[in-house]
Amino acid sequence: MTVSTTDWQELSACYRALAARGLRALVAEEPGRVSRLSFDFEDRLRVDASKDLVDEPTLERLLALAHKAGLEDWRRRLFEGEPVNDTEQRPALHTLLRTPAGTGPLADDPRLAEVHAVLERSAGFAERLRAGTHCGAGGAALDTVVNLGIGGSRWGPELAIRALQPERGDDPRVHFISSVDGHAARQVLAACEPARTLFVVSSKSFTTAETTLNLALARDWLAAGGIAHADQGPHLVAVTANPERAQAQGFELAAIFPFRDWVGGRYSLWSAIGLPVQIALGAAAFRELLAGAWAMDRHFIDTPLQQNLPVLLGLLDVWHASAGGLDTRALLPYDGRLGLLPTWVQQLAMESNGKGVDRAGAPLAVQSSPVWWGGGGNDGQHTFYQLLHQGTPRVPVEFVVAAQDDEDGPEHRRALLANCLAQAQALLEGTGAELEGYRACPGGRPSLTVLLRRIDAYTLGALLALYEHRIFVQGVLWNINPFDQWGVELGKKLAGGLEQALQGDADAAVRLDESTRALVARVRDWQG
Ligand code: F6P
Repeated sequence: MTVSTTDWQELSACYRALAARGLRALVAEEPGRVSRLSFDFEDRLRVDASKDLVDEPTLERLLALAHKAGLEDWRRRLFEGEPVNDTEQRPALHTLLRTPAGTGPLADDPRLAEVHAVLERSAGFAERLRAGTHCGAGGAALDTVVNLGIGGSRWGPELAIRALQPERGDDPRVHFISSVDGHAARQVLAACEPARTLFVVSSKSFTTAETTLNLALARDWLAAGGIAHADQGPHLVAVTANPERAQAQGFELAAIFPFRDWVGGRYSLWSAIGLPVQIALGAAAFRELLAGAWAMDRHFIDTPLQQNLPVLLGLLDVWHASAGGLDTRALLPYDGRLGLLPTWVQQLAMESNGKGVDRAGAPLAVQSSPVWWGGGGNDGQHTFYQLLHQGTPRVPVEFVVAAQDDEDGPEHRRALLANCLAQAQALLEGTGAELEGYRACPGGRPSLTVLLRRIDAYTLGALLALYEHRIFVQGVLWNINPFDQWGVELGKKLAGGLEQALQGDADAAVRLDESTRALVARVRDWQG
């Protein structure tokens, strides 16, 4: 069963009623609200939803809709490897990548054994590199890694490395090149030495134009650094779900770390795509990351829906977007180590559920994924928070902050926490009406706080898996397939024609719309 138009209309009416009552009134009039709307995962992560525009009857209503949409059955289908990605007729088994050997819903499935075999291989390779025993063509140990990959083949690994970097010693340095911005690529390469550099070419499809172009750049850069194309083998490894294609591009099988097409690009951190994480932080840290994600998987599978974090957060997202009509959501980490969290979540949320038709191809009756945006919270206070406090758009806000930090001085951590908590309080309480209009903050603005005990590999794994499952829950309510991304294809196709037009191909130019044709003409003119 799917959620009907009438259900959505009733939900919108509830939203309007609750908004009319006002968040401040809700908070003031409901004793015990904080404990009832605070939810823990182990002793590591707390979600405080008590400052959000929601009450228990609303949660019950949302849970009833989840039940109606068949959430429990969809969750079972996800974990059991049924083809939940129906347009591509395949499962979405990223959870298998973090399932301990011989356990879980697919304990005896040969795919689980394969996952562990690749994990062992990539861990071994990473440890050899970290030990300085993987040498380049000239005999020097490789101590610099450049990941060539875009989208999911970049953000997960980079987020994890940046988040957990303080735990590393002087391990190999890992850089990332993704787009076809040649400046960005050259800037990275300028900090590297060809004789000591390993390129990890990460691409699920191994056909992505950006990565192909950057691979060619890398090969030329190595050649210019004295390592002829024929000798570049030790400097290049591939991570892909298309090993044949990598082989066709000159990679030996031994230099390919495979994964399967049932791992979506934005869900692929846990696969061999995580190789740079293993290299930067060590295989043990990567295993901890997987263990944390698996613990969240178990929480998602086993916890009653009323206490189930991915379920509750997914439902709150749907509540604001589809019942409240709020079309953006701000994700504000108060910790530079989580600086890439908004970017990673952006791809996860918007590439998964940024869709206008349901699984049957019918237009959706309600608004689906909001625009996720955000950035560092403390810096944001001095840039865009003005709008959050007094602006006309209503933006549900999500704060993420960690209580402990072994590296940071206590004053800094205290100040960071104080700022984060103060912002949530200010959004809720406002200033009161006695101030002049331009000074007054209306308050009553919803926020959610995700408090971590500390940022370590296990907790990060759990946090990221929480977001993955939350997005899945949204998809169930909207009856969307979150595991395809057909909307990105058209632009890729057109870029090929544009390249031809930019090179002066008149036939390609004729196929362009008038505006684009004029812009191409002006570019060619200015390029002389
Ligand atoms: O174009 C979108 C996309 O397919 C993402 O889903 C993916 O993460 C990214 O491009 C990179 O794809 P690949 O890993 O196949 O190079």
